[in-house]
Amino acid sequence: MALPASVRIVEVGPRDGLQNEKTIIPTAAKIELVDRLSATGLQTIEATSFVSPKWVPQLADAAEVYAGIRRRPGVRYPVLVPNEQGYERARAAGADEIAVFTAASEAFNKANINATIDESLARFAPVLARAKADGIPVRGYVSTVLGCPYQGEVPVADVVRVARALHDMGCYEVSLGDTIGVGTPGKARAMLRAVAEAVPMPALAVHFHDTYGQALANILACLEEGVAVVDAAVSGTGGCPYAKGATGNVASEDVAYMLHGMGIATGIDLAALSDTGRWLAALLGRDTGSKVTRASMAA
Ligand code: HMG
Ligand code: MG
Repeated sequence: MALPASVRIVEVGPRDGLQNEKTIIPTAAKIELVDRLSATGLQTIEATSFVSPKWVPQLADAAEVYAGIRRRPGVRYPVLVPNEQGYERARAAGADEIAVFTAASEAFNKANINATIDESLARFAPVLARAKADGIPVRGYVSTVLGCPYQGEVPVADVVRVARALHDMGCYEVSLGDTIGVGTPGKARAMLRAVAEAVPMPALAVHFHDTYGQALANILACLEEGVAVVDAAVSGTGGCPYAKGATGNVASEDVAYMLHGMGIATGIDLAALSDTGRWLAALLGRDTGSKVTRASMAA
């Protein structure tokens, strides 16, 4: 399969990146992060999450964040929604694209959203029905596609079943999440290939956490299979509070650097993205999780 000519990076830093931060980040800084990202050429920025603030206190200010961002024409700003209550909050805040999320392993799903897989799908049915009536596109996530922090191995057939269910329910795109970053390229490729037999490749995205430094290699394997949508978080932030051992997402700067080096267009201004990553790292009081800097780009 030929590599795609262009790739859409779905920037999940403001949501996946920040949800795992222990210290509460000021709302104004979250807004500034989204606004800075909006100026980098990214087409999709997952802005925040309307989950229960009891479960994820860091994103309790989702409505304020969403109200405060400057929406750039042509950029999409989806938000995470776990249930109808989240849908109502997201819509009241002005969101016009949402993402629902479940997993391929029961134990993780129970820990993350307090539901079995089938219960979660049943919970999404009214959300998808309302979204359809309101003309709201819905993305779907399947977590633990290459391993679960509780059960270990996850059968590919379970990933296929859940991805197909989300697509059949009306999700326009299904993002396949290696939540704890245990995947390696051969397994990632085989998993994607199996899912693509049930869900068309143009409706699939990949979402790698980088716990063992495998994310770029996994992404390359999936690009070779034909995937053209890649989730990533600026500065390599991220992790799920309910997935022990999950570290950051693959850094958006690193993904863009790899893609540009391979002649694959992203529409992203890598210098601006890299500056944003270093700005965020400084805000969080740590080194950036990306190795790409203005200096490395000039080299
Ligand atoms: P629950 O406790 O079973 O549900 O949580 P509940 O209906 O009993 O609600 C508990 C309380 O939360 C109630 O408040 C509800 O009103 C409230 P109380 O009556 O006690 O005062 N509540 C809400 N409040 C605001 N917005 C809402 C909402 N829903 C309920 N939407 C629930 C079930 C799903 C709500 C909870 O488990 C939850 O919010 N979980 C989210 C966990 C999460 O955000 N995890 C990280 C995102 S997933 C991820 O990172 C993976 C991904 O990146 C892909 C990958 O890497 O694999 C996407
Ligand atoms: Mg994630």
